Amino acid sequence: MKNLTIIACVCIGFMLIIGINSCQHGQCEAGETSNSGENSHNQGKNCLNCHIADGEGEGCFTVAGTVYNNSLLAAYTIATIKLYTGPNGTGSLVTTLETDSRGNFYTGSAVSFKSHLYPSVTDANGQTIYMAAGISTGACNSCHNISQDKIYVK
Ligand code: HEC
Ligand code: HEC
Repeated sequence: MKNLTIIACVCIGFMLIIGINSCQHGQCEAGETSNSGENSHNQGKNCLNCHIADGEGEGCFTVAGTVYNNSLLAAYTIATIKLYTGPNGTGSLVTTLETDSRGNFYTGSAVSFKSHLYPSVTDANGQTIYMAAGISTGACNSCHNISQDKIYVK
């Protein structure tokens, strides 16, 4: 009888642990938003490999990437990234992000990619480069620094 009680307790314990975990399954707390001067890590890597639901990163990002200087050799730490609903800065401005001390930009705030969004990157002198095509994912480094050049400033 004593043994049965212990087994029952262990079973209920396991069910609770599994139950709690499966509640979290597929869900994720929104990650922070980058601020200039702050520190982060993994420059150039696809942040959304880890900062996604059930990923190993802390908090989920909706948009994240890394900006480099014009030679693509060093991170550019004072860029502004904007996402518009239309190409070349047209339509409405959906979000504005700044790079941190690693050249990384990121946010966990909700951003809708239902219709495509069009990124721009502006340097400290106000020079802007637009991505011509629209994107349907905020995982900028899933293309840039992999199948595309790094994101850079003029
Ligand atoms: C290989 C997985 C992985 C990748 C890729 C990754 N991260 Fe992380 N990130 C983590 C883990 C794990 C933590 C928590 C522990 C730590 O700080 O290292 C974390 C923590 C963070 C934090 C601190 C979160 C907090 O609330 O304190 C920030 C900011 C961050 N990452 C940004 C980024 C950015 C930006 C990128 C892409 C350039 C990125 N990460 C790529 C795994 C990753
Ligand atoms: C699905 C892959 C993909 C994703 C995701 C992506 N890009 Fe791009 N990006 C490209 C390709 C391909 C080009 C070149 C053609 C073009 O400009 O449309 C490009 C070009 C650019 C350019 C212009 C570079 C130049 O030389 O004119 C900028 C700036 C840029 N991307 C920024 C971003 C930012 C910021 C993000 C994330 C918010 C992002 N991209 C997400 C594929 C991607």
